Amino acid sequence: MSLYAIGDLHLHFQSVLKAKNQLHDRVWKGHEKRFKKICGKLIKCNSLEDAEPDTLVLAGDHSWGRDLTECEEDFRYISELPGRKILLRGNHDMFWDAKKTERLNELFEGRLLFLQNNFHTYKDYALVGTKGFTFEGPFYLDHRGRVIGWDEEAQERAEKLVKREAERLRISFEAAKSAGYRRFVMFLHYPPTSILEESSIFTDMAEEYGAEQVVYAHSHGSSRFYDSILGDFHGVRYSLVSGDYLNWHPLRILD
Ligand SMILES: [Fe+2]
Ligand SMILES: [Fe+2]
Repeated sequence: MSLYAIGDLHLHFQSVLKAKNQLHDRVWKGHEKRFKKICGKLIKCNSLEDAEPDTLVLAGDHSWGRDLTECEEDFRYISELPGRKILLRGNHDMFWDAKKTERLNELFEGRLLFLQNNFHTYKDYALVGTKGFTFEGPFYLDHRGRVIGWDEEAQERAEKLVKREAERLRISFEAAKSAGYRRFVMFLHYPPTSILEESSIFTDMAEEYGAEQVVYAHSHGSSRFYDSILGDFHGVRYSLVSGDYLNWHPLRILD
């Protein structure tokens, strides 16, 4: 029994593909087929009713669909993947109203679990999380490509979103704590820090609650893979799980 994670599937069985790199980069060619095949070999058990299925956390940006109807085929694909599936909200997941996560959990009961303002479990761990947010520019660069400034208004707007997401994350941690959980794996869609930061409200919260690991996605395309923390930082292990970074092999988070 293992816990795996991967993010940024960006499925588009019914919807219009909106990212050029998904059309042209080799890693995206037939990625749905490759990913399904890899999961078939790696992840055990195919039903929530199985006694000890592996768990797969999908860390956001599941679909290009604009609403639930446009995501139907994508959800069918995800539901048919082996294991117990937990979905985190990404910035492109237009079908997901953060305030209506409970409704999604009802709608997909027995098939998929949605993580937002709540928590799910794996053995004695609470899996907590939220979409998160990170300031992504615009940055101004010198002729060597070094950052020499940024759009300060955009940064202020980003700070408000960061605060709101941190509140949502706290709700998730507190719910898990109230239920008696003391071991945590924390999931974010966005990286925990921007390229300007060494730490953030999210890394502080991971340390405050004693999360053992922070798992995030969103940084895809090779120029973005090293935007944030990778490896151990202040006693917490940070992992990037965007699908193209992992070449569609889900990362084992816990045994
Ligand atoms: Fe993405
Ligand atoms: Fe994203």
